Amino acid sequence: MNIYFPKTLNEFIIERQAEFPYARGELSRLLHHIGIAAKVVGKKVNKAGLVDILGHAGNMNVQGEDQMKLDVFADIQFRAALKASGECCGIASEENKDIVTFDTDLAMDAKYIVAIDPLDGSSNIDVNVSIGTIFSIYRRLSERGTRAVMDDFLQPGTEQVAAGYIIYGSSTVLVYTTGHGVNAFTLDPSIGEFCLSHPNIRTPDDGTIYSINEGNYTHFPMGVKKYIKYCQERDEATNRPYTSRYIGSLVADFHRNLLKGGIYIYPPTEKNPEGKLRLLYECNPIAFVAEQAGGKATDGFQRVLEIKPLSLHQRLPFYTGCKKMVDKVEEFLRAYSEA
Ligand code: AHG
Ligand code: MN
Ligand code: MN
Repeated sequence: MNIYFPKTLNEFIIERQAEFPYARGELSRLLHHIGIAAKVVGKKVNKAGLVDILGHAGNMNVQGEDQMKLDVFADIQFRAALKASGECCGIASEENKDIVTFDTDLAMDAKYIVAIDPLDGSSNIDVNVSIGTIFSIYRRLSERGTRAVMDDFLQPGTEQVAAGYIIYGSSTVLVYTTGHGVNAFTLDPSIGEFCLSHPNIRTPDDGTIYSINEGNYTHFPMGVKKYIKYCQERDEATNRPYTSRYIGSLVADFHRNLLKGGIYIYPPTEKNPEGKLRLLYECNPIAFVAEQAGGKATDGFQRVLEIKPLSLHQRLPFYTGCKKMVDKVEEFLRAYSEA
């Protein structure tokens, strides 16, 4: 008889911790608490429509975006979980203008800070389409025992200790990396545990899916317009035309492309001339996962992870996915950079 005995997220984290000789379990505890918040938020998402969690919260966030009730709920849950872990001294969240620092003795002594998009894909909440959470973990630069400061958060993505995302889709999946490959865990609702479902994810070198909000086409840079036409041309040798897929939740679009092979693009547009996605809690964590899975992430010209952030909610154009596809769009961007 085949016995099914899953490897849970916690077991996996502990096993991996043993691979780092000086690890003392702090990062493990932090990841464990992120897992707990993910379960709480996932449960709420499942009940949306039944409980009073759909719709607008009635506030604007710092970026002038209408906050949904679930944005606020997820922000509160993750903040509480990170604080309770005792391993996080402060967070930067999409939903808060400034950094949030924790002032308990335990938290001030912690060595990690977290940048987070508590609820990604807000426009899909009310219509039962996949949404997510994105997180990024850094070692603080300021001294332990003090409050976290802004400089702790303005580190380039190369300094990330761990990063990942949770996708609340047909199932809830947590994907993360600590710089040693990418692993995904699916929540088994019958036992309430995240179980290893996709060990050592590798994204294909080349793919056939392109994901971009083509409604903004008129305002795209010429290189992007030309690349889209390239994707749509017939060429059997390169499997074109490619397939167009766009959900409008970065997490869901990226996750599909990661597993199947594709490219996600959010270029500069008229409304968002710097791009729409935020470096700290959207682009950097996704870029870390992409690279660790064998893919690539750039702003069209340079590696995302090497960009030194200047502000908390800084935006940038974002191109990520299969290496060959990102190389190709960059080729078009360079060729038409004057246009
Ligand atoms: P958020 O819901 O956290 O504000 O992020 C929304 C982002 C991202 O998830 C998605 O890929 C993109 O915005 C969609 O933007 P458009 O609706 O402009 O295509
Ligand atoms: Mn987002
Ligand atoms: Mn969000």
